[in-house]
Amino acid sequence: VAHLDQERAMGGYEAAIEAAPLIASTYDAIATLIGAERDEIALVENATVAWSTAFYALDFSPGDRVITGVAEYASNYLAFLQLAESRGIEIEVCPDDEHGQLDLEALTRMCQRPPKLIAITHVPTNGGLVNPAEAVGRIATQCGALYLLDACQSVGQLPINVDAIRCDFLSVTGRKFLRGPRGTGFLYARRASTHHMHPAVIDLHSSVWTTASSYELAAGAKRFENWESNYAGLIGLGEAVRYAIAVGPDVIEARNLVLAQRLRDGLRSIDAMTVHDKGQRQCAIVTCSHDTVSSVELQRGLRAQAINTSVSLPTSTRLDFEQRQLPELLRLSLHYFNTIDEIDHVVGTVRSLTQAQ
Ligand SMILES: Cc1ncc(COP(=O)(O)O)c(C=O)c1O
Repeated sequence: VAHLDQERAMGGYEAAIEAAPLIASTYDAIATLIGAERDEIALVENATVAWSTAFYALDFSPGDRVITGVAEYASNYLAFLQLAESRGIEIEVCPDDEHGQLDLEALTRMCQRPPKLIAITHVPTNGGLVNPAEAVGRIATQCGALYLLDACQSVGQLPINVDAIRCDFLSVTGRKFLRGPRGTGFLYARRASTHHMHPAVIDLHSSVWTTASSYELAAGAKRFENWESNYAGLIGLGEAVRYAIAVGPDVIEARNLVLAQRLRDGLRSIDAMTVHDKGQRQCAIVTCSHDTVSSVELQRGLRAQAINTSVSLPTSTRLDFEQRQLPELLRLSLHYFNTIDEIDHVVGTVRSLTQAQ
C-alpha cells in the first residue's frame, strides 16, 4: 500500500527505482523459502503464467510424451490438450494408487520409455491430497525426464525444497497459502537444466535487441519474466514470503494438520456428510459434500455467517471428478492462524445448515 502511495505521489518509474532494494529482496526471500538461487526465480503475475511460461518453452515434437496425474489442474491439462492438437504430443495419465495419490510403481513402469516431461500437481485443487513430489523427482531424474511441478497450493503450507524435490520447474501463486497479494506469482527454473530454454514469448526485459537482426536472451530465470510488473504486489509477495519463513514451514504444516484433522473429524460426524479427501499425506484443504444440501447452498449459508469457503467444480480437475464420480464439493481451506474454536464453529454451522433442511 505504501508503494502504491509512492507511485501516485512521485510516478511509477521513480517509485520503482526507489524501491529497487525492496523489490530485489523478494527474489532473495523466495530463494530462501524454497532452497533455490535468486537467479533461478522469475517473478510473474500468477501460477498459471508461471506454469505455462515453463511448459510452452519446451521444444515439443510430434510423439513426445507428457506424463501427468489424475488430479491435474484444469489449466495445465488444457495446455496438454492444446499441444496434443497442435504439435502431436501424447498425454499419458499415471493412475492413482490405493491411497488416491500418484502410483509410483505405475509411474516407474511408464518411465521405462522416458517421457519428455513429467508434469504433476503437488496439492490438487480439491481432495486434501499431497502428491509424493520427491519420489516423483527421483523417478524423473532416473529416466532423464524434465519435471514441472505445480506447487501453487503447496508453497506456504508445506516445507518445499527444490533440491529435495529435484524439479526443473516449480510454479507458485502469491495469493493462496503464502497469503500474498493477488496478481503475483513466481516460477523456479533450475539453472543447470533450463538455462538454454527459449520462452514462447519474449520482450525487451527477457531479451536484449543486440543488432537489427539479432537478440540475446537474458541469463537465468529473468528470461521467463516480462517487463511490466505490479511492483506493489511483488513487494507484498516478498513480505508474505518473509512472514511464512518467520513462522516456519514445518510449524505451519504441523499446526495445519491438527486443525485439518479436527475439521475432517467434525464434518464426518455430521449426518449424510462425506469427506472426500485422499492420500497418505494430507493438507489444509478439506473437501466434502452433503447428500441433500448442495455445496453451493452450504457455501451461501456459511458466507452469511462470515465463513469463507469455495465450491470445487468438475471443470477444475475433470479426471478426478469423473473417476471418483464426485458431486460439486464444498472446499474449506484453513491455515495456521485459525483457532480450534473457529474450526468447531465452522463444523457447528455446517451441522445446523444441514439440519435445517
Ligand atoms: C493446483 C492449481 N494450480 C494452479 C492454479 C492457478 O493459480 P492462479 O489462478 O493463481 O494462476 C490453481 C488455482 O486454483 C490450482 O489450484
